Amino acid sequence: MKQLMIFATLMATAGSAMAMSEGEYVAKSADCAACHTSSQGADLAGGVRFATPLGEIYSTNITPDVKNGIGGYSFEAFDKAMREGIAKDGHPLYPAMPYTSYVKMSDKDMRALYDYLMKEVKPQAVANRDNDISWPMSIRWPLHVWNSIFLEEGEYKPQADQSAQWNRGAYLVQGAGHCGACHTPRGWAQQEKAVDQQSTAFLSGGELDGWSAPSLRGLKVSQPELVTLLKTGRNAHDAVSGPMGEVITNSTQFMTEEDLNSMAVYLLSLKPDAQEKPGKLAAVTSGGQQTFMRYCSTCHGVKGDGNASAIPALAGNLTVNADNPQTLLRVILNGGQTPVTAAHMSNTMPGYGWTLTDQQTAELTNTLRASWGNQASEVTAGDVAKARKAGK
Ligand code: HEC
Ligand code: HEC
Ligand code: HEC
Repeated sequence: MKQLMIFATLMATAGSAMAMSEGEYVAKSADCAACHTSSQGADLAGGVRFATPLGEIYSTNITPDVKNGIGGYSFEAFDKAMREGIAKDGHPLYPAMPYTSYVKMSDKDMRALYDYLMKEVKPQAVANRDNDISWPMSIRWPLHVWNSIFLEEGEYKPQADQSAQWNRGAYLVQGAGHCGACHTPRGWAQQEKAVDQQSTAFLSGGELDGWSAPSLRGLKVSQPELVTLLKTGRNAHDAVSGPMGEVITNSTQFMTEEDLNSMAVYLLSLKPDAQEKPGKLAAVTSGGQQTFMRYCSTCHGVKGDGNASAIPALAGNLTVNADNPQTLLRVILNGGQTPVTAAHMSNTMPGYGWTLTDQQTAELTNTLRASWGNQASEVTAGDVAKARKAGK
């Protein structure tokens, strides 16, 4: 069954890559499906649940169905929802909808996106779900205040001192790609702390649903490696799992080599956050080495060098060396799965949370973070307990 589904996904991805309108390409690069298509629901019919600190909310139907979807939206009304977070009837949207990023999209892309949604997407008669946020947070008017403080209006403005490629990359990363929604830390009111490279907080790492989205500043990968990762979910050193896997499956794998290279050029220009102070460094322990030899070395190799086509190397691996160890611990405890893309079938790794104690896991993790040239901060049994809870 699972294989059949993967096959169907591959066929679908191969098919749509062949004939994609300009507007569909914008929709893919902006990943509307990630939040507006639920796992069992029809395309873009909404109903995806978001746990926010205020309560649970649901995304809405954005198919051109007039009664339930956005069929009644003029371009101007759509543009206002996308850039200002104000729905057609005037109510403000919760910023789970990333309008603070989409505000940067060009008028041309916004119009192509609108035409695609209105003309190419099938209308679905699926009613929107009520949100579960209780009074007084359910009153939406404070969101107008939120917008007046945090929404930086205006399309992306190219920077004259940078190349066209850099500017295209910045446009895609900050705008449609909304990479900051997960990779930028959030402040006291859930706002992203920065929306562009003028602040070193931009893309300096965030957390969501118990996963850590690592800092994308000072990435230790080459441009071709980064492009391959965003296209296939794998490269010689790294694999991707969890929410980033979905980003790749639904969005970046469809982007052109040219656009992926532009994003990589922009990302690789971001310097590490100077305020990041490395904590105590991890150290190898004999307990950690024994656990590695017993459970991990058969696949990842005694030198942590993996196997180019199927098993990621742990030496020089971005996840192993990430400041925030949450994603690394999630994979060790619960296992992982690389995303399905046209270029790659999914590879899975079993989880070891059922057999390793928090202390054993911490020793193993520290050993990985201090071996084969890796150098990252120490992980405690408390960090493991936190990741174990998040993965339940
Ligand atoms: C990260 C999640 C996320 C992404 C990505 C996202 N949306 Fe949304 N969107 C939401 C949520 C959640 C709501 C409902 C917010 C609310 O009810 O306050 C919403 C609401 C909307 C609305 C208001 C619809 C209405 O019912 O009046 C429109 C229009 C919309 N989104 C369009 C889009 C388009 C087009 C894209 C892709 C370019 C997109 N969204 C991508 C989460 C997302
Ligand atoms: C829905 C949240 C989300 C969005 C949106 C998102 N990411 Fe990620 N990203 C993550 C998480 C979580 C991880 C850690 C998982 C992993 O490394 O396997 C990650 C990891 C990564 C990595 C490191 C991969 C590795 O091997 O460690 C790169 C590079 C990356 N993201 C780039 C991007 C870019 C570029 C964008 C915008 C186009 C983006 N991400 C948008 C959540 C997100
Ligand atoms: C059966 C083979 C197998 C075994 C045994 C195995 N792994 Fe993996 N591992 C994989 C595969 C395949 C992936 C790629 C899937 C993914 O990223 O989730 C992976 C991914 C990873 C990643 C994430 C790499 C990245 O780039 O994001 C880490 C870290 C990891 N393994 C560590 C371990 C540790 C530690 C052990 C022992 C406790 C272990 N693995 C045992 C096959 C294995």
